Amino acid sequence: MKNTNILLTSRPTGFLGANNFATQTDDLPPLSDGMARVRVVYVSLDPAMRGWVSPATNSYLPPAPLNETMRSLGVGVICESRCAHYTVGDWVSGFTGWTDYLDIEPGKLSIVPQTASMEDYMGLFGLAGATAYHGLVKVGEPKAGETLCVTGAAGSVGSIVGQIGKALGMRVVGIAGTQEKCDWLVNELGFDAALNYKTDDLDAGLKSFAPDGIDVHFENVGGKPFIAGLDNMKAFGRIVMCGFISVYNGDTPEEMPDMTAVVRRRLTLKGFVMPDHFDTFPEIFSALGAMFAKGQIKYRLDIVDGLENAPAALNKLFDGSNKGKLVVKVSNP
Ligand SMILES: NC(=O)c1ccc[n+]([C@@H]2O[C@H](COP(=O)([O-])OP(=O)(O)OC[C@H]3O[C@@H](n4cnc5c(N)ncnc54)[C@H](OP(=O)(O)O)[C@@H]3O)[C@@H](O)[C@H]2O)c1
Repeated sequence: MKNTNILLTSRPTGFLGANNFATQTDDLPPLSDGMARVRVVYVSLDPAMRGWVSPATNSYLPPAPLNETMRSLGVGVICESRCAHYTVGDWVSGFTGWTDYLDIEPGKLSIVPQTASMEDYMGLFGLAGATAYHGLVKVGEPKAGETLCVTGAAGSVGSIVGQIGKALGMRVVGIAGTQEKCDWLVNELGFDAALNYKTDDLDAGLKSFAPDGIDVHFENVGGKPFIAGLDNMKAFGRIVMCGFISVYNGDTPEEMPDMTAVVRRRLTLKGFVMPDHFDTFPEIFSALGAMFAKGQIKYRLDIVDGLENAPAALNKLFDGSNKGKLVVKVSNP
């Protein structure tokens, strides 16, 4: 049996290109004693991957190594086992990488219950859902009746943040990059309002939505949406610093906000990364599962077929052409 891996072979400047990766196909060796073999079903494409391929060592994970399988999260099925920890047919999730198959030691990937679909694990009960829940609930400390503004609102994290906000009784405005995305937020997901950062006057839109100011701002992108959010914060508001996708390709921020507002309005501004909180995922997924069961949270997947298309597809996150959680289907569930 053959196994295809996509290796990271060089570090990009600007957007990632096919030239930064190489495809390697080998015969699968016999499975070693004490190990289990995973057939990968979906891999997740995340903005953080642009950071992982950079040489920067001052981040929360070391750079993805060159000439090794590209690092990514994913879900798969145990297709062969020579250890007691995994049984053939188990579903597993974690750092699978861009590969058809991987051999794992006990505990390397988490066994996930088969009470949800594999698509649910990619769209909701994975990094996106955990980030949205932890960021809003634990960092943002929201209260019913407060106003919430989320940027990157139609993305996998932002769309769930807004829906959790609605489930908790908040008034929610999202900021996104197309009219289709704004319509989806309001008409399908129940956001109270949505602004298009490419065509709308964000400052006027936020002042009209929240004349008394925003209580919680959830930042995913940086630049103009961040400036507008910060300028419209209520005194003692909380800003959740989740991501800054507008600069991940090496761009310098086109503009930065007037940070004196943090002092004048006595704001709390706090960053977080989910690898610090992996142990809380079961608790988070139980809370998200209850909201999902009540129909309070929807997600959409943008599925790219075939591992060979992963490198090019990653750029959809940076040109905004992804509609929902971006994943690559590697094999059938
Ligand atoms: N802290 C953590 O642990 C953690 C974990 C996961 C994700 N994150 C962060 O959360 C953010 C969202 O991630 P995601 O996985 O949910 O991605 P996503 O929102 O599903 O996809 C990225 C979206 O970002 C928007 N975007 C791209 N370039 C932009 C720019 N220059 N200005 C404004 N918007 C831009 C695009 O939407 P538009 O069409 O609206 O422009 C694009 O669709 C990222 O910053 C990511 O790094 C953080």
